[in-house]
Amino acid sequence: MRSDLSGETRSLPRLSHPGLLHGADYNPDQWLDRPEVLARDIEWMKKAHVNCVSLGIFAWSALEPEEGRYEFGWMDRIIDSLYQNGIYTDLATPSGARPAWLAKKYPEVLRVDREGRRHLFGERHNHCLTSPVYREKTAAIDAMLARRYGSHPGVILWHIGNEFSGDCFCPLCQSAFRRWLQRKYGTVDELNRRWWTSFWSQRYASFDEVDPPSPLGEMSNPSMQVDWRRFCTDQCASFIRNERLALKKYAPQPATVNLMWGFYDYDYAVLAKEVDLVSWDCYPRLRPGDNLAELARACMNHDYMRSLKDAPFLLMESTPSQVNWHTVNQLKRPGMHLTSSLLSVFCGSDSVMYFQWRKGRGGAEAFHGAVIGHEDRCDTRVFSEVERTGEVLEKLSFLKGTAVDRPRVLLVWDQQSRWAASFAQTGLKGAMDPLPVWEKHCLSLFKKGIRMDLKDMDAPLEGYDLVLCPEPFMYRNGFGERLRDYVRRGGHVFQTCFGGIVDEDDLCFTGGAPHAMTDVLGIRDPELDALYPEDELYLRLTDGRRLRVDGLCEYPQQVTAGQVLGTYENGFMKGTPALTFHRYGKGGAWYLAARLSGDGLDAVYGLILEALSLHGAWPWPLPEGCAALERGGAVLLANLSGEDRPLSLPRPMTDLLTGGPVPEVLCANGCAVIRKEEIADG
Ligand code: GLA
Ligand code: ZN
Repeated sequence: MRSDLSGETRSLPRLSHPGLLHGADYNPDQWLDRPEVLARDIEWMKKAHVNCVSLGIFAWSALEPEEGRYEFGWMDRIIDSLYQNGIYTDLATPSGARPAWLAKKYPEVLRVDREGRRHLFGERHNHCLTSPVYREKTAAIDAMLARRYGSHPGVILWHIGNEFSGDCFCPLCQSAFRRWLQRKYGTVDELNRRWWTSFWSQRYASFDEVDPPSPLGEMSNPSMQVDWRRFCTDQCASFIRNERLALKKYAPQPATVNLMWGFYDYDYAVLAKEVDLVSWDCYPRLRPGDNLAELARACMNHDYMRSLKDAPFLLMESTPSQVNWHTVNQLKRPGMHLTSSLLSVFCGSDSVMYFQWRKGRGGAEAFHGAVIGHEDRCDTRVFSEVERTGEVLEKLSFLKGTAVDRPRVLLVWDQQSRWAASFAQTGLKGAMDPLPVWEKHCLSLFKKGIRMDLKDMDAPLEGYDLVLCPEPFMYRNGFGERLRDYVRRGGHVFQTCFGGIVDEDDLCFTGGAPHAMTDVLGIRDPELDALYPEDELYLRLTDGRRLRVDGLCEYPQQVTAGQVLGTYENGFMKGTPALTFHRYGKGGAWYLAARLSGDGLDAVYGLILEALSLHGAWPWPLPEGCAALERGGAVLLANLSGEDRPLSLPRPMTDLLTGGPVPEVLCANGCAVIRKEEIADG
């Protein structure tokens, strides 16, 4: 059933640089009065094997100091001299932060919060995405930039805005929301029916009566909340489209927006359609001894970014050393910079880029890690780690544009279902967002070297050997029926509790849950139970292992078919099946009734992977705390355990990073890259 796409090449659209990109956000507008600093920057960029910078992300006030008065001279000089020195430009539109004159003259560009307060000028990423003035002004400066640099051979990519996020509740957004509802529902009666407004006397007589969700008004209607998130996503998408159109007229280069980790506000599956390629900013909370789980989470996000377009993505930002906004801003330990950067490349990134090239002397991020620090030197620890990473990326340039080995596993990351679950008033208050659960599933597979795609409920299921549905609360647009069909035709599903309960309107299915899957899973009508932290409930596998339940569990009222692989050990559910497998049609389905704590899922995945004979990129047992990822005919072996690890290789192999033999002991935070042919036979 597996459609083997390994080795297939999917180039980034028209991104004209031949290799992997290595570079950083470059904000020279902080140093325009210091030409010698800018000259040193270029010299040191070349030394660090930097071949691309993201320029002008927050440069609006330097580019248009007064309304309609543009100053492009400094940018001309910088783009030219970068290009003359072999460094390409990812040119930003400056819409991530507006100049003061714009906010003062046109207050409608400032956001209004949920309590109805209009915000003052300051900070960034906080403008109204609906405001016609903001759209007009961004389109105007974007068109100026596109006209000036659209045919510059050094400009290879457009970076639209920065890290789009958040909501606005201003009168413009309110009326846009009402129009959006009218387009979606046609009549207010239809809205009333699908929002179930006959409860708590919420019934509307016209669309004009609908206010966006607010703590001062309506916050409890989940159908409304999900629609508000969809609306905010659409506003962001159309804002991006507006900028994209302004660029497109004069600039043929591809465009991207930089996305974020585990992001909640918008549905990235929708935003990804507005850009030519996906990019994102990755800032794991590294901590020796705990890096495996954190980097598994980072890789889950990399894999999600790749899956959004089924194509290589760009790591647009990461830190070469530390950030300034975690609770504990720890330095990356020696070696970790190269290893964490290569993890992103082996998940499908065609770049390793940083925030930022040079630390500013002041302002919000003066202490954020950068390639060049306040000492203004290149003979530093951080610089040498960056330089080494640049050298390695040049050696690995054959990976550019290659697909990762086609994953055989799909995890359903459906943002709309995620919103609906997090608004569901049941189970554990404040803990119904399934993201941490998805992360646990990914960690179990990461430890076994198994790769996955992460896509939403619109994605085709065919071609995957295993579809993971952890807590798929909302079965959107016939997903249950499609899942059923996929199993009937030979696919395998692993579904956990809290699944198939509501439809796309966030209305509960009646007549049996999980909807359309009861006979596939062989269970029906599970009651959802929640535990206090001190409650101890265990699931006992038939092989005797005991797994502790973590807070949330289901009591399947009827188990109608299938093989029992584990039962509840205690409590009123004692003896009730809690892990089952049921053959259905040509395929089969596992059902797990509970969230599991600690390594509990590892045991369950052990059973599932064995049953399906799924193996990872490394044919031998992976040393504890190590990861193996495959891309473009090469395998990365990374030691994330925090300690040196013996590899006990069955035969000598070559490490592409050094050209020498793969070491017998992979040092803490170290990595090696091996050609796939060398390990292919196991
Ligand atoms: C985000 C932003 C950058 C910078 C970094 C700091 O990713 O896009 O401008 O603030 O965080 O980590
Ligand atoms: Zn607004």
